[in-house]
Amino acid sequence: MDIEIRRLTPELAEAYAHFFDVTPHDVNIDERKCYCVTWRSDNSYDDGNHWYPTREERRSHAIQFVRTGSLQGYLAYHGGEIVGWCNANADCRLCVDYLRSFWPIEEYRADIKVKSVFCFVIAPELQRKGIATRLLERVCKDAADDGFDFVEAYVNREFVYTDHDFRGPLAMYKKCGFTEYAEREGRVVVRKALK
Ligand SMILES: CC(C)(COP(=O)(O)OP(=O)(O)OC[C@H]1O[C@@H](n2cnc3c(N)ncnc32)[C@H](O)[C@@H]1OP(=O)(O)O)[C@@H](O)C(=O)NCCC(=O)NCCS
Repeated sequence: MDIEIRRLTPELAEAYAHFFDVTPHDVNIDERKCYCVTWRSDNSYDDGNHWYPTREERRSHAIQFVRTGSLQGYLAYHGGEIVGWCNANADCRLCVDYLRSFWPIEEYRADIKVKSVFCFVIAPELQRKGIATRLLERVCKDAADDGFDFVEAYVNREFVYTDHDFRGPLAMYKKCGFTEYAEREGRVVVRKALK
């Protein structure tokens, strides 16, 4: 399948928002369109303000976060259209602290660079064709090139294939060379060492 992976850059902010406008996700309820706004590294997260109550607010904040570089990841293109998204970011201390309530994520040493994979959205008609895998492979390749020590993700041992499985299946991470690093009550931290 002809898929091109591109890193999300500020000039793609509107195209990114459009992908969420038109791609069914999160049980396809319009008011739950997320624009992946939670997973970002900006300081406004400090207010506990990681979510915005209306779709319009999430859309406009997401565009700003992409433009300022606090919302990072990769887009999958097919036939000139965006068909997939992977949120992968670093220095998201507040996101990771939030996830620590659920996953046994260790405190990071200051000298270790960790890239976190937070979310995937693949267009429903193109799921199970290897697009999330391609995105994950690219995350790992670029993270290695950029000097990261690990790529890390936070998954559920039981993949039940609902919109809550947006973190991606454990089987996919294992195929991409990740290993299980820690687990608490079925929530598994997986890591791929890059050095
Ligand atoms: C979960 C998801 C990311 C997988 O993306 P994908 O491109 O279909 O995944 P891939 O084709 O790369 O599959 C990789 C591996 O993951 C596993 N996998 C993927 N989909 C699966 C499914 N439905 N059931 C079981 N295993 C699955 C398989 O091991 C698969 O490898 P295989 O096809 O060789 O067996 C995708 O289904 C998705 O986007 N779901 C919706 C997420 C969502 O709603 N996000 C927004 C939340 S607000």
